This record gives sequence, structure tokens and C-alpha cells, in this order.
Amino acid sequence: MENLVEALDSFRGRRVLITGDTGFKGSWLSLWLHQHGAQVFGYALPAEEGSHFTELHLERLIQHENGDVRDLTHLSRFVEEVQPEIVFHLAAQALVIASYDDPKATFDINIGGGTNILESVRVTKSVRALVFITSDKCYLNKEIVRGYVESDELGGHDPYSASKAAAELVFASYARSFFSDRPFFGAASARAGNVIGGGDWSANRIIPDCVRALIGGKSIEVRNPHATRPWQHVLEPLSGYITLGSRLLKHGEGNMGSWNFGPPETAVHTVEDVTRTAIKEWGSGEINVSEISGKLHEANLLQLNCAKATLELGWRPRWGFERTMHETIKWYRQFQEGIDTLTTSASQLLSYEMSDND
Ligand SMILES: NC(=O)c1ccc[n+]([C@@H]2O[C@H](COP(=O)([O-])OP(=O)(O)OC[C@H]3O[C@@H](n4cnc5c(N)ncnc54)[C@H](O)[C@@H]3O)[C@@H](O)[C@H]2O)c1
Repeated sequence: MENLVEALDSFRGRRVLITGDTGFKGSWLSLWLHQHGAQVFGYALPAEEGSHFTELHLERLIQHENGDVRDLTHLSRFVEEVQPEIVFHLAAQALVIASYDDPKATFDINIGGGTNILESVRVTKSVRALVFITSDKCYLNKEIVRGYVESDELGGHDPYSASKAAAELVFASYARSFFSDRPFFGAASARAGNVIGGGDWSANRIIPDCVRALIGGKSIEVRNPHATRPWQHVLEPLSGYITLGSRLLKHGEGNMGSWNFGPPETAVHTVEDVTRTAIKEWGSGEINVSEISGKLHEANLLQLNCAKATLELGWRPRWGFERTMHETIKWYRQFQEGIDTLTTSASQLLSYEMSDND
């Protein structure tokens, strides 16, 4: 069983490569591991103005390289130079709607880029562990009521989901063919659900959409208000990736397969619940919520069964829905009030580490 703080401390002094460090999850993961003494290196497209990465001034805390995961020559040269002990692969075209606008780029980045990191890890002997991040959307969505388990069928309707399912297949092939017998090495893929939290400014995601509307005092437009998602705070799956990464480094168990990280199956909330709670937490007066018809196919019910992570890693979600929404909206409130982002984010990391289940 892994304890989160012990897992975090096991990264002290280690060389850690995070692809997608300029993104929402990657910026939080980079900050968290940096705060626990890891030597963090990042590889991703340049950070956007106003992003969590930029507001944290992460470029001063970690060593970041602007690069494209589709460029194998650049990526593998960087991995070779950095000589990481562990790689967290998060770089991706991460949005369903954007995948309809540019399916080819989505497949190229998510499958081709994923293959390139697997190949770079294969040829770089310093690497002792790989956590390959995909998504809960890699499961063939059958609109079933039970949570998906790791052995369930893969598949995807929209290009994003299909790209993540395909990336899982490529990962499984590399893991079986090259990583199972590699000495002192462990590899695993991680599948998490929709995350929310401070620092996400992506288009067409519910919290950034709500916050933009709340700041501007405009009405909030929601697609599919009755759709349920396994909402969780961004620090929940990240604590899973960290626990898994620490375990891989410690025990080097070869091919460790796939792992789900999601909220309890009972914690079902709709898009409308999230929107109403965001308005309440923000504390503004009347904000109108209007439903817009989503023309594109988006799956309805999606839940994960995380018994494997709980039983074998001792991982569990720490923040319930109310706390998740409270911490998320608090982050944006403090941002709007001009409080230094590093102070806000570092204090949220600390309160997460100190909290038990609530
Ligand atoms: N946010 C979620 O709700 C969620 C849910 C499930 C899975 N995921 C997965 O977690 C990972 C991180 O998601 P996120 O929410 O932080 O996404 P994000 O869009 O905020 O960040 C994506 C990161 O990938 C990088 N990237 C994109 N294209 C690239 C390219 N061609 N070359 C190099 N870097 C590139 C971006 O620069 C950025 O650093 C992704 O693999 C995503 O699919 C996210």
C-alpha cells in the first residue's frame, strides 16, 4: 500500500519528465513534484498566455522544452539529453469537440505522439518507469450502469475517444513486447475521468465556461445538462499517477497494465448540478442558465470502477463533490482577486495532502 505523502517524497532528487507540462493537469503535476524536491523536465507545445503554467511561472521552477510529440527526432533527443528516471506522458489533443474539428491532428498527436514517447522510452535506458495517461473515454461506451473495469472492451465513437482507445492498444503492445522483461522497469497506463479544478481555461469545458460567464455576468450555456460524468478534482487522478509512478519506481514490476482513477461510483452528478453549484459557490446573484443543443455526439453515462487502484495501491479519492466544487471555485475567485497563483495552487496542494476522505 502506498501512502500519498510517502509516494510524493519518493520523488525527491529524481529526474522526472512530464510531457504536456504546459497543460492543465501537467502544470499541477509539475508543481506538485517540484514542491517535493523532484527535478522536473517538461516537453510540450508552448504555454498559452494566462495559462496555469504561465501564471505559476513554472518555467523558472522546472526545465521546459517547447516541442511537438509528433516530432520523434526532437522528442527522442530531448529524452536522451534529460536521462529521466520516470516519464509521465500527458501531452495530447485533449478535447472531444476539437477532435471533430481536426480528427487527423487528434489521431496524429494522441496515437502518433504516444507511439513516439513509447519509442523514446524504449531506447533510453535511464528510464525505469512510465505512466502513460489516456482517458476513461478509451472504453467502448455501452451506456451501462456499472462502472467500467480495466478489462472492459476499448473503443470510441468520436475521434478523441477512438484516439485514446488506440493509444491504449499501442501502449499494451509496447508493454508486452518490450517492457515486460526489461530489468528494473515498470510501465502502466492510467485512465481517469473528467477533471475539474483551478487553472483550466480550455474552451468547451464546463468549469471554464461557467467561470468566464460568472466573471462577465453573462448567462451560462450548457450542452447536455442531464449528462452525468465522473467529476473529480484534478488532484485526485494526479495523486493516482504519483502513487502508481512511485510504486513502479520502487518495485519495477514490468508491465503493470492499466489503472482507473475516478470518484466513487455513487458520486453521480449531472452537468446541471455542476453549473448550479458553481453559481452558488461563486456567490453572485441571479445568473441565467440556458441549454444549447449539442449537435455532436457526446456519450451520456460514464463511470469507472476503481477497485483495482484502491485494493492494490491503497489509492482513494479524498475530496467529495462539495469539497471539489468549493476548492475549484475558490481557486478562480482568488485568481480574480489578483492573489498570486503560486500561493493559491501551493496551498491547495497542501490542503489536499492533509485531507482525509470527506
Ligand atoms: N482534463 C480532463 O478532463 C481529462 C480527462 C481524461 C483524460 N485526460 C487526459 O489527461 C492528459 C492531460 O489533459 P489536460 O486536461 O491537461 O489537457 P490540456 O489540453 O490542458 O493540455 C494538453 C497538453 O498537451 C500538450 N500538447 C498538445 N498537443 C501537443 C503536441 N502536438 N506536442 C506536444 N505537446 C502537445 C499541450 O501543449 C499541453 O501541455 C491528456 O492526455 C488528456 O487526454 C484529461
